[in-house]
Amino acid sequence: MKKASILTYGCQMNKHDSEIIAGLLNEIGITSYNNLIENPDIIILNTCAVRQNAENRIIGRIGELKQYKEKNPDLIIGICGCVAQEYGDSLLNRINHLDFVIGPADIHNFANIITEIISKKTRVSAVKSDCRILTSKTPRKRESSTQAWVSIISGCNNYCSYCIVPYVRGKEISRNFNDIIKEIEKLLSDGYKEITLLGQNVNSYGNDLSDGSTFPKLLKKIVSIKGDYWLRFVTSHPKDLSDELIDIIAESNNICRHLHLPAQSGSTKILELMNRRYSRQHYISLIGKLKKYIDGISLTTDIIAGFPGETEADFMETFSLLEYVKFSSAFIFKYSPRKNTESANYKNSIPQKLIEERHKILLDLQIKISEQFNQFFSNKTVKVLTEDVSPKNHEYLTGRTEHNKIVIFKGNKELIGKFCKVKINSWKSWTLFGELISDQ
Ligand code: 5AD
Ligand code: SF4
Repeated sequence: MKKASILTYGCQMNKHDSEIIAGLLNEIGITSYNNLIENPDIIILNTCAVRQNAENRIIGRIGELKQYKEKNPDLIIGICGCVAQEYGDSLLNRINHLDFVIGPADIHNFANIITEIISKKTRVSAVKSDCRILTSKTPRKRESSTQAWVSIISGCNNYCSYCIVPYVRGKEISRNFNDIIKEIEKLLSDGYKEITLLGQNVNSYGNDLSDGSTFPKLLKKIVSIKGDYWLRFVTSHPKDLSDELIDIIAESNNICRHLHLPAQSGSTKILELMNRRYSRQHYISLIGKLKKYIDGISLTTDIIAGFPGETEADFMETFSLLEYVKFSSAFIFKYSPRKNTESANYKNSIPQKLIEERHKILLDLQIKISEQFNQFFSNKTVKVLTEDVSPKNHEYLTGRTEHNKIVIFKGNKELIGKFCKVKINSWKSWTLFGELISDQ
């Protein structure tokens, strides 16, 4: 029995791709682990290219793996995901101890490629395909038996000026509507309690299909499935978030009252340079509607600090957007110029030291806001989906509220995978602490 270590970097899309790779390998008798095990037969790096530092870490890691190959010449080492697509064949030329390079669109071929490498002792590059052929029949070895990711659309057509994703993940390809429903029905009948729909821009779902499928229609169909489960989706683009969608979230008991809505900047000038196709005003009006119609909604966002041309005044507009919206949490990133992207050629870049300063100011602000947001939970009893035992103390469990807030509480392992009622007593920036009141 061969063993593979799959090391995953980056977003939920990549984590789910790793589950697919593990499923495909399982079918040819290879067991996968999501850490670097002792004496693996195969090491796979599933990579992220969104920022330069992520990429540097990965390239460094591949370098370190050379010693494993020196100890075991039969070891197969390969790279897949966005960095694989970005550099393609050239990685095989540059790195002698690498056996394969597989792009995101070619992962359905993973098992065949590995079989070919084992039987023919060849090196393989598969980064040409522009079509992901994944269906409900594709095997998946899911990490959790409670929460499941379901990919609904791959690729991105938006070409935000800073973003490498459209170049490495290709154009938008939506999955068949009925096939998605089939996958979700099966997951729910298998006892999954939380489904997260995945796409770079889920709101674009159906644009490339000729059968009239849209994201709101998909959501409506999913929530017509009866049961006690939560439905989430990432990521929504503010330019495409419709009133219809807001109504559907407001009316459904299954869709979590949490929305991740990347703002990227609070300055209309910078948003234009980013090719985001919405203004500060539009973003603020969306937030107004979301808060008005969806009681208790928790909002999270992505922000890029130090985009080229960002003046002090532009930066302060982002600062004031965070103060105004009061996101429950936010991912604040330092701008990183990426190969092939439009903004990599922009002239007035911001000095790295200033990027770091602005990043820290926004991060410190958000920590304060997140702590304020947590006060909302003080002494409240909330519904929590229990996910696991706490890694720090095994007498404790960890779970999440529908607002995507992590909750730690004392309880028995048997509660994992169940909805519980937990009374919140205290908190830190990103975590709530409480006591179990009941399971449901
Ligand atoms: N530099 C910094 N952050 C970036 N992101 C995407 N591209 C870049 C880049 N070049 C961030 C965006 C996006 C998140 C997934 O990563 O905020 O929403
Ligand atoms: Fe990148 Fe913009 Fe597409 Fe998101 S919407 S993946 S930021 S190009």
